[in-house]
Order: sequence, then structure tokens, then C-alpha cells
Amino acid sequence: MNTHTGRIEIDSKGDILKARQAAREVAEEIGLGTTDTTRIVTAVSELARNIYLYAGEGAMEWERIPEQNRRGLTFIFEDDGPGIDDLNGALKGECSTSNGMGRGLSGTQTLMDDMEIETEPGEGTTIRIRKWE
Ligand SMILES: Nc1ncnc2c1ncn2[C@@H]1O[C@H](COP(=O)(O)OP(=O)(O)O)[C@@H](O)[C@H]1O
Ligand SMILES: [Mg+2]
Repeated sequence: MNTHTGRIEIDSKGDILKARQAAREVAEEIGLGTTDTTRIVTAVSELARNIYLYAGEGAMEWERIPEQNRRGLTFIFEDDGPGIDDLNGALKGECSTSNGMGRGLSGTQTLMDDMEIETEPGEGTTIRIRKWE
């Protein structure tokens, strides 16, 4: 299987929609079902919105996971924004610095098979999520 990748810059509200559409397309392309596709689109929506809200700009990249026996997708969200102040609190779904529900990160972790976060105050945030078929 070939590795397919793509990238979307995120710096406007409309880019959140572009990220959602790209995620839906690539999930359908590799043959994921409706439930997993919806999980991915929901997670991508939350992380793209976080970039727009908290960092102002950044990017989403995706990659088909090149394994023979099972299909999967990786999405990476990168920004050079302020970083996540209280990562443990944010992952527990306990804190929101906007008027959000504060469940974007914790919800994403639940929806995906794995999630890795690197964040540094003043340096930015990189979040990698994966979903297997
Ligand atoms: N890319 C990011 N850069 C800086 N801070 C972030 C980023 N993503 C999330 N955060 C911080 O983590 C908190 C929790 O995010 P989230 O779980 O999506 O909830 P919500 O967006 O509803 O507040 C946010 O309120 C924000 O303070
Ligand atoms: Mg959020």
C-alpha cells in the first residue's frame, strides 16, 4: 500500500470546514465505515478549532498508515501558539479558557485509538491522533 499524505493550513474558520472535509474524504477513501468516519471528523473538528481559537494559525497533516493488514490514519495538528497551560486538567475535561465545553481534548482521546500531545509554554503544540479500522 502506498503512503498518502496531505496538509491543510488552518488560519480561518473556513479552514476548520476544509479540515473536516479532507478528513471525511480520506477516511472514506480507505474504506472506513460511517461510525469511524464520524469519530474522525468529530476529532479533527475539535483539534482544528483549537488551533484556530487558541493559536490563531497552524496546520493539519494526515497520512495513511502504510501497513498491509489493517487500514489506519494518522492526523497531526501543529501550531506555534501559546501551548496548553494545564495539560492534565485539559485532558480530564476540566478546563476551558474559552466558552467551550472543555471536552475537545478529552473527547478526542476517547474517540481515537491513540493520541500524543507535545506542548511547551510559548513554543506551541503538536497533537498526533490515530484511528485504525
Ligand atoms: N492548540 C492549542 N494551543 C493552546 N491551548 C490549547 C490548544 N488546544 C487546547 N488548548 C487549551 O486546552 C483547553 C481545553 O481544550 P478543549 O478540551 O478543546 O476544550 P475547549 O476548547 O472547549 O476549551 C482550552 O480551553 C485551551 O486553554
Ligand atoms: Mg476545544
